[in-house]
Amino acid sequence: MFAIRQPRTDELAAIMAVHRAAFGRDDEAALVRRLRADGDDAFELLAEANGDVVAHVAYSRVRIERGDDRRALGLAPVAVLPAWQHRGVGSTLIRYSLDALRQRPMRAVVVLGEPGYYARFGFQPASNAGLHDTYGGGDAFMALSLQPGGLDGYRGRVDYAPAFALLTD
Ligand SMILES: CC(C)(COP(=O)(O)OP(=O)(O)OC[C@H]1O[C@@H](n2cnc3c(N)ncnc32)[C@H](O)[C@@H]1OP(=O)(O)O)[C@@H](O)C(=O)NCCC(=O)NCCS
Repeated sequence: MFAIRQPRTDELAAIMAVHRAAFGRDDEAALVRRLRADGDDAFELLAEANGDVVAHVAYSRVRIERGDDRRALGLAPVAVLPAWQHRGVGSTLIRYSLDALRQRPMRAVVVLGEPGYYARFGFQPASNAGLHDTYGGGDAFMALSLQPGGLDGYRGRVDYAPAFALLTD
């Protein structure tokens, strides 16, 4: 069993360890630290089991070329400890966090990821809404409207926070 909650301020090291283990490299862990240092982390949730952090998701503000109103976020990174993968933790964490953002209320979320995974949460190719990323993600760049008309008025290039320059691919 696991519980989902917001991180405490002293849990950065445990969160970074989850990303390092899940991705097998340091980039995403460093990204989480840098997003926080820059004040660009808009929302985070973690999953805890037996007192340990086993999963984490971060959202940061994106800048949209046209129609930007600071109510769109990028989902990244998300990670589940290898021993906890394929047990529904990642899906639960993402669903829970999207519901929390609907309450805030944010308008839309974008993600660059596996279409087969993110489609289950309602993400669709961002190109359907006239949006594109700066990584040439194509259909792997997806958008989700959190409210009726949540993507209306957004158009063009979507820029992630400067911390994303830390990712090597
Ligand atoms: C991707 C990740 C967050 C999913 O978390 P999870 O707890 O393992 O996922 P869940 O148990 O909720 O869901 C499992 C489903 O996700 C699918 N899945 C897991 N990783 C996937 C991936 N990289 N691509 C596509 N599908 C994936 C599984 O096939 C499974 O689908 P099914 O239930 O229909 O068979 C986790 O596997 C992880 O941390 N991976 C390494 C880091 C990563 O790639 N993060 C995402 C990019 S930012």
